[in-house]
Amino acid sequence: MATILITGGLGYIGSHTALALQQVGYTVLILDNLANAELETLNRIKRITGKKPSFAKIDMQDYKGLSLYLKQHPEIEAVIHFAAHKSVGESVANPLAYYQNNLGSLLNLLRAMEENGLKNLVFSSSCSVYGEVHSLPVVEQTPTQAMSPYGNTKKVSEEILQDVAKARHGSFPIIALRYFNPVGAHESGFLGETSKTPANNLVPVLMQKALGIRAELHVFGHDYDTIDGTCVRDYIHVEDLAQAHIAATQRLLENKQTQNYEVFNVGAGKGYSVMQVIESFERVSGIKLSYTLSPRREGDVSAVYADVQLVEKELNWKATKTLDEMTLSAWHWEQYYQSKQVVNNE
Ligand code: WQD
Repeated sequence: MATILITGGLGYIGSHTALALQQVGYTVLILDNLANAELETLNRIKRITGKKPSFAKIDMQDYKGLSLYLKQHPEIEAVIHFAAHKSVGESVANPLAYYQNNLGSLLNLLRAMEENGLKNLVFSSSCSVYGEVHSLPVVEQTPTQAMSPYGNTKKVSEEILQDVAKARHGSFPIIALRYFNPVGAHESGFLGETSKTPANNLVPVLMQKALGIRAELHVFGHDYDTIDGTCVRDYIHVEDLAQAHIAATQRLLENKQTQNYEVFNVGAGKGYSVMQVIESFERVSGIKLSYTLSPRREGDVSAVYADVQLVEKELNWKATKTLDEMTLSAWHWEQYYQSKQVVNNE
């Protein structure tokens, strides 16, 4: 089976994708600068699959190091590019760091791939390119109008990719996957999201509140025009998301793409409110969470969820996990992960 390079492969979605690729027989090479990932994740993957992926600590901003690595690995047949900063809030506070890192990394990767005759790229994009949407479910043709520097780095990255794919007349096929809200953890409970910055996404915050390592759980806004006044999002299990990357990679390796540059929404295709997510966690854990109804969070859209007809048709992929499976897997992982942090800190 082919050798696949995964940039940012020790991150949350990257590590689950690396593991899933290994499990279907691919050889996986991981690059990561460990800015928001742990080396220990290599051992976590090995514990589940029995194979430790090859790893090199390379920053995507280091063009020479990256290009030399690709030169030393002519066996690479496809690249999945995850390496990027991904916090909406952080990007508002520090836009220059986000444009420099996310766009600089992509441009370096594209140049290094071109220099080494590499093709087949799957790009980690985001539903945040849509900004505030007025008709739901959101389709790929919806005009993009990012609401944050982070979302704009994904929007501009997609535009760069479209131009590069077009200029290469099919010799450099690219697929962009627009994720909705990735949540959950590997079913084993031994792999999940690790973050070097305090969690601000809903599901990790819930888990930390349940474990008592977070004092407050704020529900940001309860007067939206939604089923219960709280925001609606399309939550997708990280294992389902990993499978979508395998489907996209196989599409490129088998030359089945119908255009040089293709974009797919990758979500469950349904929306759940903040309160429904909290209720799901309470149901699967048996823990009642106290929370504060707080003002809206700047930049939040009231509701967004995906139209997934295109990805289901073209990639023959659809999400399989339920919301309860997402919250339960997140709960198992957070309990395991925090117990290890306690041991390490003793
Ligand atoms: C979800 C809802 C909050 C925390 C994320 C990523 C973005 C993109 C999509 C990848 C919102 C509410 C949250 C809390 C709350 N992913 N909330 N209390 O903002 O939809 O976007 O997924 O590209 O990069 O940021 O996710 O989990 O932060 O928020 O009430 O303590 O939960 O207001 O309505 P979001 P989120």
